[in-house]
Amino acid sequence: MPVRSALVLHGPNLNLLGSREPAVYGRLSLADVDRLIRDHARARGVRVECRQSNVEGELINWLQAAEKEGFLGVVFNPGAFTHYSIALRDAVAAIAVPVVEVHLSNVHGREEFRRHSVIAAVARGQIAGFGPQSYLLGLDALLSPPRSPAVARRRPPRRA
Ligand code: DQA
Repeated sequence: MPVRSALVLHGPNLNLLGSREPAVYGRLSLADVDRLIRDHARARGVRVECRQSNVEGELINWLQAAEKEGFLGVVFNPGAFTHYSIALRDAVAAIAVPVVEVHLSNVHGREEFRRHSVIAAVARGQIAGFGPQSYLLGLDALLSPPRSPAVARRRPPRRA
């Protein structure tokens, strides 16, 4: 049986983890965070592929291709795009695989402009404020099916 795989996407500036505002984002590098995610996934019998881009269009292309590439879902930290990218929101809304939005920091306790996510309403859910563990919780959320149809994300029927 093929191993189930999930896609982890890191948005802009997350390549600078470790040196970028360590008081907010911690001292682990992106490679360290990816290692934690991979270990966590392996323990759950899942393979993960981690990608980072500073380019909005590249993130959109990866989201659009996720299903075709065989990923069961996406754990997505859109970085600052969270707060204003309607194009990324539309990509998340357009695809059939579930997307869990994650943030290292608690965006709701920071500047006003970070408190609004344009992605959250079309994501399966949002996890924020747990540092690198946000990604692990996001992966667990992806792997556990929604409890009831009421909490499942509603999506319009797909056209043939
Ligand atoms: C972030 C929060 C965003 O507001 C910020 O622009 C980031 C990182 C987080 O993981 O806490 O780049 O997504």
